Amino acid sequence: MSLLQVKEVTHSYGSRSIFNWKDRSKKVLSDISLSIEEGTCLGLLGRSGAGKSTLGKVILGLERPQNGQILFQGHDIYTADNHTRKKIRRDLQVVFQDSYSSVNPRMTAERIIAEPLENYEKLTVAEQKRTIIELLERVGLSEEDLKKYPHEYSGGQLQRINIARAISLKPKLIVLDECVSSLDMVTQTLILELLRELKEDFGLSYFFITHDIKSAYTISDTLGVLEKGELVELYGSKNQFFTSEHPVVKEMRGSILSEHPRYRSVRTREKHPKSV
Ligand SMILES: Nc1ncnc2c1ncn2[C@@H]1O[C@H](COP(=O)(O)OP(=O)(O)OP(=O)(O)O)[C@@H](O)[C@H]1O
Ligand SMILES: [Mg+2]
Repeated sequence: MSLLQVKEVTHSYGSRSIFNWKDRSKKVLSDISLSIEEGTCLGLLGRSGAGKSTLGKVILGLERPQNGQILFQGHDIYTADNHTRKKIRRDLQVVFQDSYSSVNPRMTAERIIAEPLENYEKLTVAEQKRTIIELLERVGLSEEDLKKYPHEYSGGQLQRINIARAISLKPKLIVLDECVSSLDMVTQTLILELLRELKEDFGLSYFFITHDIKSAYTISDTLGVLEKGELVELYGSKNQFFTSEHPVVKEMRGSILSEHPRYRSVRTREKHPKSV
């Protein structure tokens, strides 16, 4: 059984207009089906507005889809009993793009990481502190970081705090929504490396949402391409992305600039003959 199954999910956001007496709402997700196996990372590539974050929210139980099901370990997350839903909430965590708005600016790193532990674990004060220090060290920070506030961190360091919080309850699946997109290239690489290590060490699974082909390729095992709410391609192996003949994928591939201007696509020169 797959860890997570998305079955024929369709969703649109309702219009709040009082003149909208007919259902004119736009479909944001159309008939999406995919699955994530335990210990693997499914990357979801798509342009801005494709519906990636909406699918992430649907999977996290934050946006109930109009049609279809989300099965986590075989349980429908929207109809499961309270006990099962509480367990699913613990096993399903998230890291968003904007590390600063994901945390309370008035909380220290210790308080930020303590929150989920206090909600789910019954640890003594000393046990909790030891657990938080271990988590900080696991993500490349140290005990000295316990008392620091979000504004005292760089974006990359704060994303490490968000990752520590996400793994604090040893979840099964983490939704990573553009979690490295606002970081510089070197920091992106370091965070992706950390995520890859944590995946191995804790047997984690990821749903890695991004518009960036390079980061998707670096971390994913399987890969899907979302375009205007439709899953246009789903590959069992990420390498298939590079041989796909689907026009949307070809266009995405064409947008990757070569490292050196001399080798950049001829199409770019054809479109702008006076440039280069
Ligand atoms: N809460 C909302 N209410 C109404 N429409 C929304 C809401 N959230 C998203 N949308 C719309 O749904 C569509 C898909 O948005 P979504 O945020 O899922 O895209 P995305 O692929 O994550 O884009 P990006 O790469 O820019 O983050 C967009 O047209 C967006 O305007
Ligand atoms: Mg998004």
